[in-house]
Amino acid sequence: MADFTGYLAPDGFLAELQHELGDDVAEIHGRLVLASGPPRDVAWVANMWRDPIWLKIASIGDASKQLRAIQRNWALYSLAHHRRAALIVEKLPKVSAKPLNFGDPAPTAPLGSWTLLDSETVLASPSCSSPFPNGEANFIEDRTEPPSRAYLKLWEAFTLLGIRPQPGELCVDLGACPGGWTWVLQQIGAHVIAVDKAPLDPRIVALPRVEIRQESAFGLDPAKIGPVDWLLSDVVCYPKRLLTLIEKFIAAGTVKNFLCTLKFQGDTDFETQARFAAIPGSRLMHLHVNKHELTWVKLNPS
Ligand SMILES: C[S@@+](CC[C@H](N)C(=O)[O-])C[C@H]1O[C@@H](n2cnc3c(N)ncnc32)[C@H](O)[C@@H]1O
Repeated sequence: MADFTGYLAPDGFLAELQHELGDDVAEIHGRLVLASGPPRDVAWVANMWRDPIWLKIASIGDASKQLRAIQRNWALYSLAHHRRAALIVEKLPKVSAKPLNFGDPAPTAPLGSWTLLDSETVLASPSCSSPFPNGEANFIEDRTEPPSRAYLKLWEAFTLLGIRPQPGELCVDLGACPGGWTWVLQQIGAHVIAVDKAPLDPRIVALPRVEIRQESAFGLDPAKIGPVDWLLSDVVCYPKRLLTLIEKFIAAGTVKNFLCTLKFQGDTDFETQARFAAIPGSRLMHLHVNKHELTWVKLNPS
């Protein structure tokens, strides 16, 4: 087959992925888009399927045999022929689906993806971008301590990046209320300046190493804050407004690492998305836990 790459769209965001891939789109199977050419740097993707191959299968046993001949671990993207696909899964080695403890590294064993296009054709990629089946990172959740579920965004992002704030580092958490992100950062051992116009959960306010600033994130002066190890934002605002804020901090040169949620309201603002993507040394990703949002990260190169 010609040179293709597969892109699995995040649930509900196939249109965004199609927009990014434009004329390269060749075929669409459920959420899986086949586009011509080598992997492209798109943001609205849950899992990228590199070098997909088409396998003609004679039987369920033959399908599992052909997949096993390529490598051990496979995740099914079940699109059609669910029963037949499930029977093939039964004949493949088990892949652990256990949720992760935050702090554990992401799985490192190569994990391929496959689907049944029709009863006799498997589409498979031995090399995918996500270490999780279909990009679905799942964690053993803490349902008592964090005051919101937003903490899962940081857990997922830090796990995928393989890097997180270190004890003693200074984090500025913009749009911190009710305090899920501040809770994660404080637990890691960082010092947190939590900024929000609204008050945080009193349990978070009472934690050591947490300083509250009840004010607008947009009024902050980088020079007054001084050097920051991590600037994080989960502020609800138009991405364009967030970009202006980020550009101010980049220009000041006082921040080592950035991690921000771009929250789209109504139509996806592809123009601002592209401006974030163009910031040198940065990347945009769609986390499994993200809704109509992207996570923009710029890490200190050293
Ligand atoms: C989705 S919530 C953040 C959740 C938080 N990250 C957590 O883990 O609990 C978005 C927050 O942005 C805050 N926000 C909106 N405009 C703001 C502004 N101008 N300055 C600071 N915070 C703002 C809202 O008050 C709201 O608490």
